Amino acid sequence: MRQMIAGNWKMNGTLAGLSAYASALRQGVEGVDLLVCPPFPLIRPLIEALGDASIWVGAQDCDAKRSGPHTGDVSADLLAELGARHVILGHSERRADHGESSTLVRDKARAASAAGLVPVICVGETEAERDAHETETVVRAQLAGSLPDGFSGLIAYEPVWAIGSGKTPSEDEVEAMHRAIRASLKKQLGEAGEAMPILYGGSVKPANAETLMRIPEVGGALVGGASLKAEDFLAIASAA
Ligand code: G3P
Repeated sequence: MRQMIAGNWKMNGTLAGLSAYASALRQGVEGVDLLVCPPFPLIRPLIEALGDASIWVGAQDCDAKRSGPHTGDVSADLLAELGARHVILGHSERRADHGESSTLVRDKARAASAAGLVPVICVGETEAERDAHETETVVRAQLAGSLPDGFSGLIAYEPVWAIGSGKTPSEDEVEAMHRAIRASLKKQLGEAGEAMPILYGGSVKPANAETLMRIPEVGGALVGGASLKAEDFLAIASAA
């Protein structure tokens, strides 16, 4: 199956920098799906800058409600209308900074799917949970709570301690966690869980991408810092 390399710009990026980024990215990479998730205001300008390139643009969050009096929130429906295809949900930074529970993530996933977006649901343990040998229990609980019945989309396994730290789990640890996630997906979703892509995220760089992308059950990468420079992002995509 083709791997997906997804970029999560987080609260980075500028309107001024879009055109150069998009023209570098337009060179593309064969045999891999590319997705870029900039902050909300850059979604439409990035789509326009990418033109007819086969590169998807997505969002980093959406609201669980579809419309109404919710100041500052953004609906999945509007994102779809803007041309977004995917939406990242339940990123650990949202779970930590905004107190998002798995139940809220599940409700957001329902709204996203109803609006025609493809959710990318993030799960992952903190360093304290890893030290307490609770990684699988925590991730299983996040999956059980965050995935609606009949969920269709992608999963991103992002150990919180690996995000932006330059640290990654060992290859064996990544494989073990992706296999554990696969088992949970099959249990929760049946046949639909068998082929659902499971991305790895957390300090993916050009230097380690090839190793990480060859691990069994790794369906691609969710890249933070290294997605901000088009050449690094493309180098990671070339390794997929
Ligand atoms: O969502 C991607 C992310 O959390 C990983 O960030 O900077 O470690 O690649 P980074």
